[in-house]
Amino acid sequence: MTEVPPVALDRGSATPLSVQLADALREAAANGTLRPGDRLPSTRELAGALRVSRTVTAAAYDQLLAEGWAEARRGVGTFVVGAAVPGSAAPIVPAPAVPARRSLVELRAGSPCLEVLDRAAWRRAWRMAGDREPDSQPEPAGDPAFRAAVAAHLLRHRGLTAGPEDVLATAGTSAAVAEVARLLPPGSRVAVESPGYGRAIATIREVGAEVVRVPVDEDGLVVEALPSGLAAVYCTPAHQYPLGRRLSAARRLALLARARAEGWRVLEDDYDGELRYDVAPLPILAALDPGVVVHFGTASKILTPTLGTGWLVAPPDLRERLLARRTATGTRPGRAGQRVLAALASGGDLARHLRRLRRELVVRRQLVLSAVAAAGHPAEGDPAGAHVVVPLPDADTETAVLAAAAARGVALDGLGPYRARTPAGGPADGLVLGFAAPSRADLCRGLEILTSVLRAARSR
Ligand SMILES: Cc1ncc(COP(=O)(O)O)c(C=O)c1O
Repeated sequence: MTEVPPVALDRGSATPLSVQLADALREAAANGTLRPGDRLPSTRELAGALRVSRTVTAAAYDQLLAEGWAEARRGVGTFVVGAAVPGSAAPIVPAPAVPARRSLVELRAGSPCLEVLDRAAWRRAWRMAGDREPDSQPEPAGDPAFRAAVAAHLLRHRGLTAGPEDVLATAGTSAAVAEVARLLPPGSRVAVESPGYGRAIATIREVGAEVVRVPVDEDGLVVEALPSGLAAVYCTPAHQYPLGRRLSAARRLALLARARAEGWRVLEDDYDGELRYDVAPLPILAALDPGVVVHFGTASKILTPTLGTGWLVAPPDLRERLLARRTATGTRPGRAGQRVLAALASGGDLARHLRRLRRELVVRRQLVLSAVAAAGHPAEGDPAGAHVVVPLPDADTETAVLAAAAARGVALDGLGPYRARTPAGGPADGLVLGFAAPSRADLCRGLEILTSVLRAARSR
C-alpha cells in the first residue's frame, strides 16, 4: 500500500473536508507524488490517519473514482489511475487533466460544465460520427439525423412540436442571429435587451441593422418600452442574460401580439433553456406563435461551444430565404458537430448527460448562493442556467472586488460593461458569476476566496 502524502486539512474552511481531501489527492496524482498503480489506503485507515470520519474519506474516494483519477478493484483496493477520464476507468494520457492548485479559477459566465461529461460516451459519439460515410453534397439545412434529434430534443425539453423539416442546423446562436439579421431590409431597427448579450448585439450591429436598447426589469424585457417601427426584437425570454430573470407570461403574450400586429420578427435566444431547476419552464415563444418567432438553440451550454453547433426553428418563408442564401453563398454550418450531437442523442447519452448536468449545476448553484449570502451579498436570478448575479452597492466596490479576486487567482465578470445601459430596477453594479466552468473542487476553492473578498468589501 502507498503512503499517502501529507494532507493539510483546514477544519475552519468553508470547503468541505471531503472536497479538500479529494483536491489534495488529485493534485498528488497530477504532479506525480502518487503514481499510476499506487494503492491507496482503505477509507478506514485514511480516516484514522487524518482523524476525520470515514464519511469524509469515502466521499473523497467516490469523487476521485467518478472523475477517473482512481479505480476500485473488487476485493483488492483502490488504485491511482494516470489521469482523470470521467466515465471510464482507463487512463488515456498520463497527464494532469485538471488545473494545478494555484491556477486561475474561472468564475466568469459562459463556459459549459465539462466535468460531468462522460468521456466514454463522448469518444463513442465521435467514433459513430466518423463511421458514417462522408457527405458528398451536404444539404444546406443540415444533417437529417441531427435535425431529427433536435426536433425530438425540442419536444422533450422545450415543449415545442416541430418536425425535422422545421429545424435548420446552425453554427451556434451568434452565427445564426447574424444569418437572420442579414435578411432584414437594409437599415432595419432591431430591439435588444439592455443589459443584454454582447455578442448577439454586436452581431446585429455588424450586419448593418440599427440597435435599439430596451430596458429589462424583474419580469424580463419591458415590452411596453419597445418603440414602433422595428423589424425584429432579440431577447432571452427563458433566462434573461445577464440578469437571470424570465419573461413573464403576460409580457410573452404582449410581445407576440405586438409582433403580429406590427410585423416584427421575434428572435428567441434559448441559450440555456434546458437548465431550469424549479418549476417547469414557461412555454417558449416559438410554441406560442411559430408564425412570428425565430427560435435559436445551441449546444454551447449543454455540451461545448467547440462543437460549433446549434439550431433554429423559423417560419417557412424565412427558412426558405435562409436556405437560398446558404446555397447562393456556399455557406453552411459544419457537419462534424451535428453528427456528434446526433450520435450522442441516438444512444440516450445526451439525455443522460442532461440529467447529470442538471443535478451537478443545482448543487453548484446552491454552493454559490450559500457562499455569497454568508458574505452578506445575496445573489439574484431564477433557479436556472449556470450563472447568478451578485449585486454590489456601487461601481467602486465592483472594481475592488474584481481586482482583489483576480489578485488571488479568481476570474470574475462584473456588470460594469452594461452599467451605462442598466435601467433603474435592475442591479447596476455587481458580479455575473458563472459556476459551470471549473471543477467542483476548484469552484469551492474559488468561492472561499470570493467569500473573503466580499466580506472585506462589506467592511470597507
Ligand atoms: C445569451 C447567450 N446566447 C447564446 C450563447 C451561445 O452562443 P453560441 O451558440 O454562439 O456559442 C451564449 C453563450 O455564452 C449566451 O450567453
